[in-house]
Amino acid sequence: MAKTKRRLRPAKHLKAVPAVETWSRPWWRGAVFYQIYIRSFADSNDDGIGDLQGIISRLEYLKRLGVDAIWITPFYPSPQKDHGYDVADYYDVNPEYGTLKDFDEVVSRAHALRLKVLVDLVPNHTSDQHPWFQAALKSPDDPHRSLYYFADGKPDGSPPNNWESAFGVPAWTKDDRSGQWYMHLFAPEQPDLNWWNPKVPKEFEKILKFWLDHGADGYRIDVASALFKRKDLADRPTVKDPVTGQPKLDATFKMIDQPEVHEVYRAWRRILNQYQPPRVLVGEIFEPRRQARYILPDQLDMAFAMVRARWNAALWKRSIEVDQRASPGPVAAPSWTQSNHDVVRHVTRLGGGFMGRARARAALLLLLGLPGQAFLYQGEELGLEEVDVPPDQRQDPFFILSGGKEAGRDGCRVPMPWSRGLPNAGFSTVAPWLPTPPGWDRYAVDAQDGSAGSMLTFYRRVLALRRQLVGILPNQVRWCPAPQGVLVYEHGRLTVAVNFLGRPVELVSRGRLLIATHPLASHRKGRLILPANSGAWLDNLAP
Ligand code: GLC
Ligand code: CA
Repeated sequence: MAKTKRRLRPAKHLKAVPAVETWSRPWWRGAVFYQIYIRSFADSNDDGIGDLQGIISRLEYLKRLGVDAIWITPFYPSPQKDHGYDVADYYDVNPEYGTLKDFDEVVSRAHALRLKVLVDLVPNHTSDQHPWFQAALKSPDDPHRSLYYFADGKPDGSPPNNWESAFGVPAWTKDDRSGQWYMHLFAPEQPDLNWWNPKVPKEFEKILKFWLDHGADGYRIDVASALFKRKDLADRPTVKDPVTGQPKLDATFKMIDQPEVHEVYRAWRRILNQYQPPRVLVGEIFEPRRQARYILPDQLDMAFAMVRARWNAALWKRSIEVDQRASPGPVAAPSWTQSNHDVVRHVTRLGGGFMGRARARAALLLLLGLPGQAFLYQGEELGLEEVDVPPDQRQDPFFILSGGKEAGRDGCRVPMPWSRGLPNAGFSTVAPWLPTPPGWDRYAVDAQDGSAGSMLTFYRRVLALRRQLVGILPNQVRWCPAPQGVLVYEHGRLTVAVNFLGRPVELVSRGRLLIATHPLASHRKGRLILPANSGAWLDNLAP
């Protein structure tokens, strides 16, 4: 590592810098968000389903964990065909989860703890039970029809075009009464809204204000780039695969992500600007190349930089750099994440078991040392792994619609384990909506709470350190020379080193060790020893 002559303050002088809300540094820059999958987080009334009062009962836990904000997945009235992402009423709370009053209480109790609250907004589609869609089904002349995509099939009786839904089935379902088809990029019970009809954007501006007026600090926007579909609804062309020579669907064909979507977010931004303190918009957009068109001062604040690379130093570095390039500008920086309710839990992706958890700790240091925000997914602080939910208990439409060919996403949605030795790991006294596997309580919060070596304690320590650093570090990082299989960067006075290899490495490194993922990591006389699959943070200005 390069030497610098400045050797300034020792680490013990690191001062906590409060997240001040200034124009140049709004509260969310550098913040750590915690995603709550409400159905599986905490159940206050023992009916096997998480709820808003459950969230309230665990706010102290989240405060102590050290996060700045929570994002709650959809809690609106919904037939739960896609677990809340099929909204039947955007202005209320599903009785399973509580009432509007409970939501207000979540906000006020969270705010009292200085935690911000993000609501999940689902603008691409409604539930088929939404009054608009129900009215649309009544007759082909009903004016609600034009709020969705209804179209005639092809002369041969097939759907209007060859688009597929994200769940693997055709994106069209026949409305038998009229003989027309309606479009759904997800499940058939999630008809897509027609954003070309001005009534749709108008309604969503109302919805947007509704939850902001209830104190929400912003939104996570579901499938944020999909709202407008190409107007001609043309078939996706088939092209020849350059490698196999076989015909395949053209991946460059643009079904969604039409330029008009940006006007919508500009309008939303103007609404948000009327609120103080600043409210935020986080788009569910993963493709780095797309993000730069959305993460702009007059549109969205954040999108997700999800690192899903194999455990390999070069691949991780490339993934990080691609995301960094997608957030240009002096202050913009990616929102790092590894897991959410749609993907296999990252401990499992990284190899599972003891090794998966060791790598997950190192990965956490690698990502949380970078400039930017972080999004944690509930349970990762406990080191939870993907669960192999018995097929007859799975509920994800992805699994169901694929006829069991796709494993589905239930494995990362299994209820949180709160207490050791209790049935269902203390989530509820009755069987929860998704079963907890045998032995799930070994991960329980109360089992990890006082233990120095637990994942939970590690997360708390990392987040506490990060809180001290975030306000004093610049927005740039510098990669340092390192042996193959090892990544080292300097982010201001913070040096981050991660060993991806299956054997220990020794590095030359100045400063003082702040935290390491492994008890055998050590730093003496400028030599940093990192065991296999481990990482460390150093204060490079400390003597
Ligand atoms: C988003 C959600 C996912 C849902 C889909 C349809 O990708 O994260 O859970 O199935 O949108 O709303
Ligand atoms: Ca409940």
